[in-house]
Amino acid sequence: MNVKEIVSKMTLEEKAGLCSGSDFWHTKAVERLEIPEVMVSDGPHGLRKQNQNADNLGINDSIKAVCFPTACAMAASFDRNLIYEMGKAIGQECQHENVSTILGPAVNIKRSPLCGRNFEYFSEDPYLATEMATNHIKGVQSENVGTSLKHFLANNQEHRRMSSSSEIDERTLREIYLAAFEGAVKNAKPWTIMCSYNGINGTLVSENKRYLTDILRGEWGFDGYVMSDWGAVNDRVRGIEAGLDLEMPGSNGVNDARIVLAVKEGRLDEKIVDGAAERILNIINRYIKNRKPDTEWDMDAHHEFARRLEGECMVLLKNEGILPLKKGSRIAFIGEFADKPRYQGGGSSHVNSFKIVSALEAVEGIADVTYAQGYENNEDIINEEMISQAVEMAKSAEAAVIFAGLPDSFESEGYDRVHMSMPNCQNELIKRIAKVQPNTVVVLHNGSPIEMPWAEDVKGILEAYLGGQAVGQACIDILFGDVNPSGKLPETFPRKLQDNPSYLYYGGEGDKSEYREGVFIGYRYYDKKDMDVLFPFGYGLSYTTFHYSNLKLSSNGIVDTDILNVTVDVTNTGDSAGKEIVQLYVAEKESKIIRPLKELRGFEKVCLSPGETKTVAFTLNKRAFSYYNTEIHDWYAESGEYQILIGKSSRDIVLNETVHVEASKQLPFKLTVNTTFGDLLGRPEAIEEELKSFIETVKAAMGQQSKGKDEEQSAAITDDMSNAMLKYMPIRGILSFGDGSMTYDKLTVMLDDINKKLYEK
Ligand code: BGC
Repeated sequence: MNVKEIVSKMTLEEKAGLCSGSDFWHTKAVERLEIPEVMVSDGPHGLRKQNQNADNLGINDSIKAVCFPTACAMAASFDRNLIYEMGKAIGQECQHENVSTILGPAVNIKRSPLCGRNFEYFSEDPYLATEMATNHIKGVQSENVGTSLKHFLANNQEHRRMSSSSEIDERTLREIYLAAFEGAVKNAKPWTIMCSYNGINGTLVSENKRYLTDILRGEWGFDGYVMSDWGAVNDRVRGIEAGLDLEMPGSNGVNDARIVLAVKEGRLDEKIVDGAAERILNIINRYIKNRKPDTEWDMDAHHEFARRLEGECMVLLKNEGILPLKKGSRIAFIGEFADKPRYQGGGSSHVNSFKIVSALEAVEGIADVTYAQGYENNEDIINEEMISQAVEMAKSAEAAVIFAGLPDSFESEGYDRVHMSMPNCQNELIKRIAKVQPNTVVVLHNGSPIEMPWAEDVKGILEAYLGGQAVGQACIDILFGDVNPSGKLPETFPRKLQDNPSYLYYGGEGDKSEYREGVFIGYRYYDKKDMDVLFPFGYGLSYTTFHYSNLKLSSNGIVDTDILNVTVDVTNTGDSAGKEIVQLYVAEKESKIIRPLKELRGFEKVCLSPGETKTVAFTLNKRAFSYYNTEIHDWYAESGEYQILIGKSSRDIVLNETVHVEASKQLPFKLTVNTTFGDLLGRPEAIEEELKSFIETVKAAMGQQSKGKDEEQSAAITDDMSNAMLKYMPIRGILSFGDGSMTYDKLTVMLDDINKKLYEK
C-alpha cells in the first residue's frame, strides 16, 4: 500500500493522532493499519537515547554512547568529509539502537558570544554553517537514519527562548539566518526539520506559514516533515495549517482532539491533516523499509574516531616557539580540566559517554607530568592555597600547561551567559603561573569566544572547544606534536563583549529581540569597522608553513548566469606534514548597496607533505556575488568589479584577482517626477532629446542661482559643486527651476512614454 492509500483508510482521529508523539520520544503506532511507532533521539554530536525517564534537558540518563566533538569544534575543522564520517558513525549507532531520526544538526548562527547554546552551533558565517550541516546530514542519512535540522529559525539566544520574537528584516533573514538552513535543505535533503520555540517578527515559528511552508517547501523543495521543538506548540490548529506536521512530545491527546474538532466545525480543511499525516508516514516508511537491524558498531573504534576528529578541530591560536612540547620533559599540568575535561555542554545534547579520557591520563608515558588542580570548577572563588601549590609546581617544571575554559554553569542550553569572561579564579591562576613560568601554554575548553586578559603573558594558546570524550588524548596528540594542528576559527574572537555587533540589543526587551546589526554580524561587522579583534574569523596556526601562488580565474568577465572556476596552488614550505584550510572570499569593489566588505564563498582543506604542492579548485556561481534584493525578493548580483580573495584567514588575504560580473537582468526601474537627476543621469538611455534640453535648462538655472550677487560666494561654488547639488534634485525641479515651458501634466506624460518604451516591457 502506498502512503496515500494508507492515509485514505485512516479515520480523522487516527490521522490527527499521528500528528503528535505517543510519548517523549516516539511517534504513534496505528496497529489496525500496521503503522509502527518509531523513535527519535537527541543529537547532535552523539546518541542520547533514553530508555526510561525521559527529559529534554539532559537531566536523566541515556544509554552509554560516544560523545563526538560538539558543533563549535567540528566547524573549526572546516572539513566536509570528516563531519560526513561523524554523521555516518552516529547513523550506525542509531540503526543499532533502532532510533529512526537523530535530532540535529543545529545550524543556528552564533550571533553573540553570550548565547548559552553556542557550543551546539557551528559558526557566525552562514556558508560555513550550512556546508558543515549539509555533510553532517548526508553522513547520518547514508545509514538510512533521518536527521532533524534545527532550530528553524532565528533561535540565537536562550534568554526567553520560548516566548521571544526575533525581529529581523527580510534581507538579513535571507543572507544570514535562512541561508544557514537553505544550503543544507537543498543539498542534503534532511528527513525532518525542527521548528524553533521563538517567534519571528511577531509570529511564533510553529505557526508561521511563511517559513514552514512557503519558503521551506515552496522555495527550497523540502519534502520531509516538520516537527516541533519539545513544547514549541501554542495553537495546534494554527500550527498544522502553517505546516507544522508533528507535535513533540504529544499533548496526551488534547491537541489531537482540537485538530479533529476544527475539521468537524469546518475551520480546518481535512486535506491539511492528510498532508501532514502523509509526510510523517513517508518518513516512517523510509526508515522501516530500509532498516538495517544488524548494524554493529564498535564503541572503542568510535572513541578513537572521536579522538581523530578532535585532532582536526583544535585551533592553535598562539605559539611563540613553545609547541610542540618535548616528549620526556618535566611539565606541570595545571587546572581541573586537565583531570576532568569539559568536553560537551549541558542540556538536551548531553551524551552519556561510555568513557572519557583526560589529558592527565593521556600524557602518561609521554612526559614527566605533575598535576595541580589550581581552581575549582564548580565555584568561582580564588583559592590561594590551590594557586600557591600550582605556582610552586610550575616554577620547578620546564613548562606549564594550564587547562582552562568555561564551566557548565557559565554556558548551557536553557540560559545565556551574562558576560564574556572566564571565571576570575582561572584568569588569576593563569596570570600568576605566567609570572613564574615563561613557558606557559593555555588549553581552552569553551563553546564560544572568551576574553583573554592574559593572552600577551603566555607563549601558547590552544583552543580545544568542547571536543568530545576523547579531548584529553587529542590535546596530548597536538601538544606533543603527533598531530599537527589544522583547525581555524569558525568565528571571530572580539577583544571584549562590547565590540560584538549585537551587544547593544542582544536579548531584547521583554519578548522582542531586535537584530539591529542586520547583515553585519561576525567578521562582516568587524571588517567593515576596521576593528581590532583578538583572533579573526578563519584564523589558526600550524606547526608547518604554507605558501600560496598561481591564483587563476577561468575568466576575467562573466555574466551572472555563468560559472567562475578558481584555482590556487598551495605548497607546504615547512618540515612537517600538515593541513591547510584555504579560504575564498568575494568582495565587490564598489557597491551601491550597503554590504559587507567581503564574504566567505568557498573553503577547502588540503593535506600536504613537506615540499608538496596541490592545486585547490573552487566553483563560484551567481549566488557568490549576490546580495538579497528586497525589491525583487530575490538574489541579485550588481554589474561591476569583484575581487576574488584567497586567504589564510579573513584578515590574512594573500592573493587576489578581479572579475567583472555583468548582471543578466536589470532591476526594475521607473521614472517618476521624484526620480533624482543623479539617478536619471545614470540611465543615459532615458535621456531623450526633450528631456535633455530641460536638464540643460535646470543646470543653467542652478548655475544662475549659485552665482548670486555676492561675488565672493559665487566664486566659491564650482561646477563640480553645482553638479553635485543637481544630483539630488528630483526631476520635478524642471517645474520650479526651468524656463516655465514645462507643466506637471506634460512632464508626467513624457515620463510615462519613456517608461513604456524602455522599462515596462
Ligand atoms: C531542544 C532540542 C531538543 C529537544 C529534545 C529541546 O529542549 O531545544 O534541541 O532536540 O529538546 O530533547
